[in-house]
Amino acid sequence: MELLKEVKYPGFSRDIVSFGIIKNIDIEEGQVKIDIALNSKDPGVSGNIEKDIRSVFQMKLPSTVLALHISDMQSTEPASTAKKGRPGEYLPTVRHKIAVASGKGGVGKSTVAVNLAVALALEQLKVGLLDADIYGPSIPLMLGVKEKPYYDGVKIYPIEKFGVQLMSLGFLVDSDDAVIWRGAMVHRALQQLMNDVAWPDLDVMLFDMPPGTGDAQLTLSQSVELDGSVIVTTPQDVALVDAVKGVQMFRKVNVPILGVVENMSYFLCPHCQTRTDIFSSGGARRECERLGIHLLGEIPLDAEIRVGGDAGVPIVIGHPESPQAKAFRIIASAIKAGLTD
Ligand SMILES: Nc1ncnc2c1ncn2[C@@H]1O[C@H](COP(=O)(O)OP(=O)(O)OP(=O)(O)O)[C@@H](O)[C@H]1O
Ligand SMILES: [Mg+2]
Ligand SMILES: [Zn+2]
Repeated sequence: MELLKEVKYPGFSRDIVSFGIIKNIDIEEGQVKIDIALNSKDPGVSGNIEKDIRSVFQMKLPSTVLALHISDMQSTEPASTAKKGRPGEYLPTVRHKIAVASGKGGVGKSTVAVNLAVALALEQLKVGLLDADIYGPSIPLMLGVKEKPYYDGVKIYPIEKFGVQLMSLGFLVDSDDAVIWRGAMVHRALQQLMNDVAWPDLDVMLFDMPPGTGDAQLTLSQSVELDGSVIVTTPQDVALVDAVKGVQMFRKVNVPILGVVENMSYFLCPHCQTRTDIFSSGGARRECERLGIHLLGEIPLDAEIRVGGDAGVPIVIGHPESPQAKAFRIIASAIKAGLTD
């Protein structure tokens, strides 16, 4: 491992160990076997890594026999097919960008964003999740990430969890630091989360938005071309009114609405699986019909969903076979199906 840390990833100032590509090392009787899983299909990358590893070993441990096995861990398309954004646009390596938004706070945007991101990764997509809730970042907690992202002096590297590439201001700022965010600061912070992060090639990035229609929404719609937004609502009428406001805000800036997720839609009894509509049911469905918006799905109110969020293990991972997890997976596959090109 120490020797491998002397090998830089081609084109980067970071070593290959910190890239997390070393999958296994076996040492027996003077022979060292190293398994490497590359993110890149570029033969130049694997060729350079192999050459550099061999020369380090040649210098430091000349008597070892080195068996290198370099494989390709991508099951989806190679990086080169990534759509390139218009020049100057943020996030040029991200093909599809989707905001998870709501008019009102606390309706479960972050919960939905986290579970959808992981569910999309389970659909074999390369997924990023950007916590655009500068005021109250919750992604680190919900995905159980305690470590700080790596910073090489130029770029910050996203953290991978459950197959999702993550970035949040919560990784960078201490949660006890009381920060009063003025508009310009929100703008700047969000731009940094997009621009100063070494985002890899991604099929889709979800943005977990703060509630409402404030600075973060404005910055985002000015900085990137969003494919659309997923609006999260709860069945109470009050929230629906606000959700509609959120919807109209996105319409004004020409961001298509992919659809609505009704969260805490009904109660599913953990003992007998009986479904109870606690709030007047069908509210989101009616409102969606009225506005001509697609209802993507309904997520039950469920203790396991909250427990999973607090424990850092989203329900699509913690209880993959549960009806709650399936509700998220169905929405994810609908979103995936809507991502053309
Ligand atoms: N379907 C659900 N069943 C039970 N609890 C839920 C569900 N969805 C969200 N919660 C819980 O409700 C609380 C608020 O959810 P969350 O943080 O996702 O909302 P939010 O809209 O992102 O809030 P904010 O506006 O503050 O960003 C959390 O404790 C979460 O675990
Ligand atoms: Mg949130
Ligand atoms: Zn019951």
